[in-house]
Amino acid sequence: MKRRIVAGNWKMNLVSDEVNELIKAIENADKPEGVELMVFPSSLFVAQVAQRTDKVVVGVQNLYHEANGAFTGEQSISQAKSVGAECTLIGHSERRELFNETNSLLKKKVDACLTNMLKFIFCCGEPLNIRKTGREADFVKQQLEESLFHLTKDQMKSVVIAYEPIWAIGTGETATSDQAESMHADIRSWIAEKYDEDTANNVAILYGGSCKPDNAKELFSCPNVDGGLIGGASLKAESFLAIAKAFE
Ligand code: PGA
Repeated sequence: MKRRIVAGNWKMNLVSDEVNELIKAIENADKPEGVELMVFPSSLFVAQVAQRTDKVVVGVQNLYHEANGAFTGEQSISQAKSVGAECTLIGHSERRELFNETNSLLKKKVDACLTNMLKFIFCCGEPLNIRKTGREADFVKQQLEESLFHLTKDQMKSVVIAYEPIWAIGTGETATSDQAESMHADIRSWIAEKYDEDTANNVAILYGGSCKPDNAKELFSCPNVDGGLIGGASLKAESFLAIAKAFE
């Protein structure tokens, strides 16, 4: 069955009390049927979120691929798992743009997750200048080829990809459902070419970038959109869950 996933990327927002309030509100609300909910708080709060809910999968926003050692400020997969993280984001555009994460570094993170059995959401997406010159498909394909397409078929089947056009992140400007569907369909066809149809159909592809309760229904009704990675609108339980309910 097709997976339906709504994931909240809280980025560097919320302090401890606010985290507790938000998770309590999510915990007390009705969970939409058939939708997997995930949240990505600051790593400082992963343990407290994991302890307070079993309604959502908790993950980290980033991690380092080495197992341990002198990497001040970084966190390893085993550390993340030891406080309850079940998943991580890899290659969010803010990591790529502000912290210079390259496709080859992200490949190492992908491999480390697979070795240590941590699920991940692999983020991809083009900046505005690339979209303006019509090269977005080549750009996104290269991100996937250089960080993901070395995986085996079985590994690929469990991957979740988030397509997040950078020009739509936090800007209020959402990709139209046609733009989202066109890129998602391309991503699925590249996976089918490299692997096969069955593998491509197993990969969940989420859309991210100013996804809100009022546009989620249209985006999620696209055949190749399997859910959303939500930034701003995931900071309130009401809007986060309204987006998840858009699947109903
Ligand atoms: P946004 O962020 O929903 O605030 O645009 C999405 C993301 O960066 O994952």
